[in-house]
Amino acid sequence: LKQVAAAIHHPEEQTSQARALAELLDLPATQIDRHGFPDGESLIRVRLAARTAVVLWSLDRPNGKLVELMLTADALRRAGAARLVLVAPYLCYMRQDAAFQEGEAVSQQAVGRFLAQLFDSVITVDPHLHRTKHLSDVFPGSEAVALSSCPLLAEYLADAGEPPEGILIGPDGESRQWVEAIAAPLGLPVLVGEKQRLGDRKVRVTIPGIERTAGKPVVLVDDVVSTGRTLIEAASLLKAAGASSVSALVVHLLDREAQEALRAAGVARVTTTDSIDWQEGRIPLAPLLAPAVGRAIR
Ligand code: R5P
Repeated sequence: LKQVAAAIHHPEEQTSQARALAELLDLPATQIDRHGFPDGESLIRVRLAARTAVVLWSLDRPNGKLVELMLTADALRRAGAARLVLVAPYLCYMRQDAAFQEGEAVSQQAVGRFLAQLFDSVITVDPHLHRTKHLSDVFPGSEAVALSSCPLLAEYLADAGEPPEGILIGPDGESRQWVEAIAAPLGLPVLVGEKQRLGDRKVRVTIPGIERTAGKPVVLVDDVVSTGRTLIEAASLLKAAGASSVSALVVHLLDREAQEALRAAGVARVTTTDSIDWQEGRIPLAPLLAPAVGRAIR
């Protein structure tokens, strides 16, 4: 058995990211084989066996993927893998970190336990950690590495020549860690809003100090965009307050329709990473992931 098989990836996704990662690490990349049975079950077959295997699988739209990930881990273990590394640029179910109402599952803990049973090491980018401070608390008994894309996003803004009079806006308290980390190296001012969630597609946002944005270009920053409602609400407040332009910088943009809705709401430019396969206008994460994967397979 070879020592390391790299970047075994989802049958339809992450192809270019897997290639880039494998190239940076000088390792092969291969897709898994998947057969979908007429009744909705899946058959998984791996073509590359190794003592250590890296599985690259971003966990947006996660429910089906979690089962296929379990089967992939089983196939790799049967083929002789002693160490499995999961690289999930987007890590699902992190926002439900508490039972907000009686009787609810704490999805973050349940999914964390599930993945920790399958993988020896989990590497992700900007997981939505809020009440849970450390990713290691989500993955009992496994190594857990949370990488920050903020330096790459700050570099993107610097290269894009964001004007020095611009303001970065976090739409809610949970975005504070990201907006501050991006603004700090650029010396840009920050405003952080307050959000009340009224439903899946209904939020109320207020931005204390919004009058400071009059006549200025602003960039909305968030870790996750799902429906886009949070940023759409914030963008309409900023336009009404007289911001000269509104653009957005998002780590994980979960829904293509949300990107279109943001554009329709007057957000001039929406920039994301390539954590999710379809995302456009993407900042590549392979250079951030490669050193961490290199350490995990050593
Ligand atoms: C939650 O706090 C996240 O950081 C995002 O603000 C939230 O997931 C965005 O959801 P949506 O785009 O549906 O408003």
